[in-house]
Amino acid sequence: MTFGSADPAQLGFAPQDPAFIADPYPAFGTMRAAGSLLYYEPRDLFLLTRFADVNAALRNRRLGRAYDHRFSHAEFGRPEPDGRWPRFDESERWSLLNLEPPDHTRIRRLITKVFTAKAIAGMRDVITELAAAHLDPLLDRDHFDLIADYAQPYSVAVICTLLGVPHSDGARLLDWSHAIVKMYEFATPDDERAAADRAAGEFIDYVRDLIGQRRVDPRSDLITELVQVADAGDRLTEDEIICTTIVLLNAGHEATVNTLGNGTKALLAHPDEWARVLSGEVEPLTAVEEMLRFDPPLQLFERWVLDAGVEFGGRTFAVGERIGMMFGSANRDPERFADPDRFDVARGDATHIGFGGGVHFCIGAPLARLEIEVSLARLRDRAPGLAVIRVPQYQPYFVIRGLSGLLVAPHG
Ligand code: HEM
Repeated sequence: MTFGSADPAQLGFAPQDPAFIADPYPAFGTMRAAGSLLYYEPRDLFLLTRFADVNAALRNRRLGRAYDHRFSHAEFGRPEPDGRWPRFDESERWSLLNLEPPDHTRIRRLITKVFTAKAIAGMRDVITELAAAHLDPLLDRDHFDLIADYAQPYSVAVICTLLGVPHSDGARLLDWSHAIVKMYEFATPDDERAAADRAAGEFIDYVRDLIGQRRVDPRSDLITELVQVADAGDRLTEDEIICTTIVLLNAGHEATVNTLGNGTKALLAHPDEWARVLSGEVEPLTAVEEMLRFDPPLQLFERWVLDAGVEFGGRTFAVGERIGMMFGSANRDPERFADPDRFDVARGDATHIGFGGGVHFCIGAPLARLEIEVSLARLRDRAPGLAVIRVPQYQPYFVIRGLSGLLVAPHG
């Protein structure tokens, strides 16, 4: 494993270029060959290109998503945060994704108490009904957009059901969430940041109101349970519940929708593989794993070096340096996956990097798998002739990478 001196930009890494975003995998291959560790100067970021290193970094406790629980910005050699987006900052303050132990451990434990695998498995019937309700009417049309017409409203309805948010507010939630996630990209212009800040503010006010309603009128939903949950006297504060609800709502559909888009595109582009699902040779749940490995919706996550002693690619890192874990590249690493550029629907390898690993491993993985599995089963049973009728385009974002639409004819 080597620290390559090559410049990733020279190797084709262009996270703001639509041509790169459309198919980053050849460039990833060139990057992996050039080194397991590459320095990307525009973002002062050390990129990990290979599976073994990404996997190890996810589990390395000397790395953190945040540093402000241990260091001031000055101590860390970083500028003070841009104070112009206070409501966005407020919405993120207690997001699990921005916390490290001990706050992370405390809040995650409380959430996993109510967000159990059993509770999710118990949602299979409801999710199947929601898939049918959203998909079946579309099957009478000549064509429809699998993302805007199906995946988005379906996935939002699922997460709203789980949390106890009225389905009629789904469209508003989608707008807020789309505005907010722009903040996670490499370069976000100020007008998009301002829109994200406005959206975060409205979202906070909305969730605060909902929590107030559940306090006086408890229901059997996750928000009520979060309000009520107590753990050895340790309760979630209102601000923590608000941030948790927002992260669950946002994380709860963005990546799932993009997996349905990217994954169905891959399936239909490989008719022999789709045929294996149609014939029953390969179960939908098995196919889900390959959809996630082959073209993951989340391409890059970052970590700060919090303690001395971190080593990758033969390089020893200093506290305050930043590492970028390239999920899409790791999932195509030939040292980990045989014939990695082949879309093999029966591969069924659930150890891909799609859901992360370590303490931040995706809380929603069982729900996401179930949602995608149920959708695939419905498409298999009701629309075996499903065909893409317009070449799909990716949205111009690299970190959260997904299609802007997937126009399909349900019966070919
Ligand atoms: C296919 C769909 C999904 C994918 C690919 C995905 C992927 C991920 C990844 C990679 C992480 C870890 C980020 C890191 O290590 O920095 C993560 C964390 C998380 N995901 Fe998901 N996710 C999906 C669906 C969901 C759903 C449906 C929910 C909620 C219902 C959800 C909730 C979360 C939460 C709360 C975290 C933060 C966990 C923590 O920091 O402890 N995700 N997800």
